[in-house]
Amino acid sequence: TANDAPSGKQPTATYDSAFLKACRREPVPHTPVWFMRQAGRSLPEYRKVREGIPMLESCARPELVTEITLQPVRRHGVDAAIYYSDIVVPLKAIGVDLDIKPGVGPVVEQPIRTRADLARLRDLTPEDVPYVTEAIGMLTRELGATPLIGFAGAPFTLASYLVEGGPSRTYENAKAMMYGDPQLWADLLDRLADITAAFLKVQIEAGASAVQLFDSWAGALAPADYRRSVLPASAKVFDAVAEHGVPRIHFGVGTGELLGLMGEAGADVVGVDWRVPLDEAVRRVGPGKALQGNLDPTVLFAGKDVVEAKAQEVLDAAAGLEGHVFNLGHGVMPKTDPDALTRLVEYVHGASAR
Ligand code: CP3
Repeated sequence: TANDAPSGKQPTATYDSAFLKACRREPVPHTPVWFMRQAGRSLPEYRKVREGIPMLESCARPELVTEITLQPVRRHGVDAAIYYSDIVVPLKAIGVDLDIKPGVGPVVEQPIRTRADLARLRDLTPEDVPYVTEAIGMLTRELGATPLIGFAGAPFTLASYLVEGGPSRTYENAKAMMYGDPQLWADLLDRLADITAAFLKVQIEAGASAVQLFDSWAGALAPADYRRSVLPASAKVFDAVAEHGVPRIHFGVGTGELLGLMGEAGADVVGVDWRVPLDEAVRRVGPGKALQGNLDPTVLFAGKDVVEAKAQEVLDAAAGLEGHVFNLGHGVMPKTDPDALTRLVEYVHGASAR
């Protein structure tokens, strides 16, 4: 498998990149860096090529996807690219009536609330997303040795949008289903696990070198509820892609109390937000997994000296780790100065050079 040796689609130089080595907990020449949401609204060149093109339409245009994915790699010199798409793309591809409203987020026309609604979630096949296969083929040719990270939304985070009908701060409808009709909830998450696994497989088979499962909103759950009502579906996704041997990253926000369980779900790398320092996070996750994180994204608004001091704190907390991928604790905020990101990459590379 690609985890044990360079394989099939993966060039040796990609396999030997600092990012994939860190994911495998091997020694690295420098700490690798990439940023969640590095492709997107912080970049003027992104806003320019997206002008007049709705978000979901942009995700279905392979040339545009390739350009937007490459923009932060060119500009910042990050150690990995993340595929430009969105967590709701596979749902749209199987016919769920949803859209991404600017400044709001994903909005679902008819929320999923009953057993009859589940019928709207059919299986995803590669033929539903030909543009993904095409774009990743183009990207891996352009990227050379830089690895491409594929991604998907985790069943809970997808369910939160599908059941609420849009973004939520409380997840009251989703959690009401989870507590009130556990069988319907389990069946919904199981459907979403199959769709998510199929979507990740398309990306890996097209050439993605690693995958990240975004369970962005899992931090809303108590550990016992996460273990009983969410972990089985996320574990099903990780199990389904294990045969491909690419590193699997598991990320959520506000998940300090869930870090051990998120590792247990089957991740090789656990993403940590800024609320838990990495030396504490490693105790919670336990041995055998790399960590990714965890600079507070708002630090980038505080000036160069502060950014460097805070980045150094992250590196110091990660000093005893076997594998560390530097990232923010959540996505790049739209108003972030892109030059601050470029300088941060330079700083982390320089300060961690071995
Ligand atoms: O660079 C990258 O990280 C790749 C692109 C990416 C997007 N969405 C593009 C996007 C990724 C990885 C995502 C994942 C995603 N989408 C998540 C998980 C990551 C996280 O932040 O926790 C979630 C929860 C979503 C759902 C979603 N889509 C939200 C909350 C929003 C923002 C709504 C807004 O306008 O404030 C989107 C839209 C979206 N996805 C944009 C981008 C670049 C902005 C829309 C635009 O540029 O027109």
